[in-house]
Amino acid sequence: MCGIVGYIGDKQAYDILIHGLHRLEYRGYDSAGVAIEHETGELNVYKSKGKVTELESSVEGKDTGGTLGIAHTRWATHGEPNDVNAHPHVSEDRTLALVHNGTIENYGVLKTALMQHGYHFSSETDTEVLVQLISYVKHTNRCSLFDAVREALRQVEGAYAIAVVEKGNPDMLVVARKSSPLVIGIGDGETFVASDATPIVGYTDKVVYLKDNEIAVIRRDAPLEVHSIDSIQHPVPDIQTLKLSVEQLEKGGYDTFMLKEIFSQPGTLRDCIRGRITNDCKRVVLSGVIENRDRFINANRIVIVACGTSWHAALIGKRVIQEMCRISVEVEYASEFRYGCPYITDRDVVIAISQSGETADTLAAIQLAKSKGAFVYGICNVVGASIPRDTDSGTYIHVGPEIGVASTKAFTGQVTVLTLLALCAGQIRKTIDTETVESIARALTELPQTIKEVLTLADTIKELSRIYTYARNFLYLGRGYNYPTALEGALKLKEISYVHAEGYPAAEMKHGPIALIDSEMPTVIIAPNDSLYDKIISNVQQVKSRGGSVIAIVSKGDRSMEQIADHCLEIPEVPECLTPIVAAVPLQLLAYYIAINKGKDVDRPRNLAKSVTVE
Ligand code: AGP
Ligand code: GLU
Repeated sequence: MCGIVGYIGDKQAYDILIHGLHRLEYRGYDSAGVAIEHETGELNVYKSKGKVTELESSVEGKDTGGTLGIAHTRWATHGEPNDVNAHPHVSEDRTLALVHNGTIENYGVLKTALMQHGYHFSSETDTEVLVQLISYVKHTNRCSLFDAVREALRQVEGAYAIAVVEKGNPDMLVVARKSSPLVIGIGDGETFVASDATPIVGYTDKVVYLKDNEIAVIRRDAPLEVHSIDSIQHPVPDIQTLKLSVEQLEKGGYDTFMLKEIFSQPGTLRDCIRGRITNDCKRVVLSGVIENRDRFINANRIVIVACGTSWHAALIGKRVIQEMCRISVEVEYASEFRYGCPYITDRDVVIAISQSGETADTLAAIQLAKSKGAFVYGICNVVGASIPRDTDSGTYIHVGPEIGVASTKAFTGQVTVLTLLALCAGQIRKTIDTETVESIARALTELPQTIKEVLTLADTIKELSRIYTYARNFLYLGRGYNYPTALEGALKLKEISYVHAEGYPAAEMKHGPIALIDSEMPTVIIAPNDSLYDKIISNVQQVKSRGGSVIAIVSKGDRSMEQIADHCLEIPEVPECLTPIVAAVPLQLLAYYIAINKGKDVDRPRNLAKSVTVE
């Protein structure tokens, strides 16, 4: 994962780089570092284990002057998080510094070869090989920095977005990418480089998304030059206008991004639905589906690939698409898909879901599906990310930048878009009647208000969380549409509070996990008033009769569960397929407050990163 930043211009680079690293910290925070070209010709490198603030403290009082620099925030793949393994990595002669996002697969072979040429390595990373190799090529071929980087990259296998600076060359920054993302911001007399657009927002809205296998030379006083790494092609940079504001990237008065994002859901869902339902609620208009209507009419089946929370949304998508479109839907972990000998044909529609649009496993699954001739449809949040660019068509969820590592508003946005897709494709396939479309579409348009109502539970949930802060294990149960909601609730708790939690289909509990139930093991049950409600009541009774305590998410006005469960959280009644969206919110809040009670850093949970760009 990792985040990289670069700057060349007339301002002091350090402040811009640090500001950029804070924006990219969601990508990893094992260590951080900067390399800055000083006007004296020195290349100053500072790095430190831990978060960006730790780097800032360690740099206090040191000379950070200079108007060209690169910086990095790390999510370690090769070598433990420590000062030495932190980026930037420098060549042995200390003339080159490089930051890298990705993994170098043939680093072992390259390292051995370089050692045979007398090079010494100081870190355990794969990245150090890159900078040493560039240095080796540069010395051997006596060539420019640009030629050396390009030649070195031709020998490299794996994924990378890199930025390289050279001591004594204060007017040039070289960047390149393959599989990992890289954005270049073109300002007035200054240029920015970053893993995504967030560090660039506020400085310029002109951006170039570097494409795979491209290398760019950024000179202080010359236009951006883009080249192909493998060929002599010299593509003209496609300058796009960024639609992202500084406001969208700040906490807006909340203690954490996660809380801000949970509370922003009425608005994000409004944005997600906007323009996609006709005023009379009789039609759902998803342009990606309508423009490719034949693909959806003639599809043999639909396969959805995704990871983590997006995979949970996919499971809900399966249920709603099967119901509305009468077509078989399979859901695969993107990371397992390509190793599972998948049987994909050109009659299949493959849907890839990803908040970031950069998840390496999902991208690889897309490539495989495309190679088999499938029509690939992306559901993504980050505009301009790799997944929307690599898919045949798709829909943005439009919930705005999600910064908290634990996904919240993206999940509700994904389920909303999947429901819209099911309705739109169902209409095209003529498998759904107008009354059904109308009732669900109307409830979708009312979702912002519904979620507002759910959020009034926050204080109650905060109180409730105190009782359960020190429970060491949790069980989350749901059925039908809400089995995936249970998985999502458990994942939220695990990732931010580090408490073990398991999501399970409620009826499966009796086939094993029931053995775990005792007074120490709280169970969270998602039991809205739906077709499986009566059955889930019996599941709750099974828990209660074994001494377990139960927190139940129920529909407003529920009276039966009140008699059995220890705590009931009431949510407004909505059509069955929308219950996961509404029920997810109290689960997000429960996980949030438990983690806060435990003193955890919810925006930056340990070992995680927001965008998983490694396999
Ligand atoms: C969710 O809270 C996670 N941190 C994680 O599971 C995430 O959903 C997963 O890595 C997939 O990311 P994507 O949606 O950006 O592809
Ligand atoms: N492989 C590099 C490292 O471990 C970069 C990691 C990444 O981008 O995730 O430092």
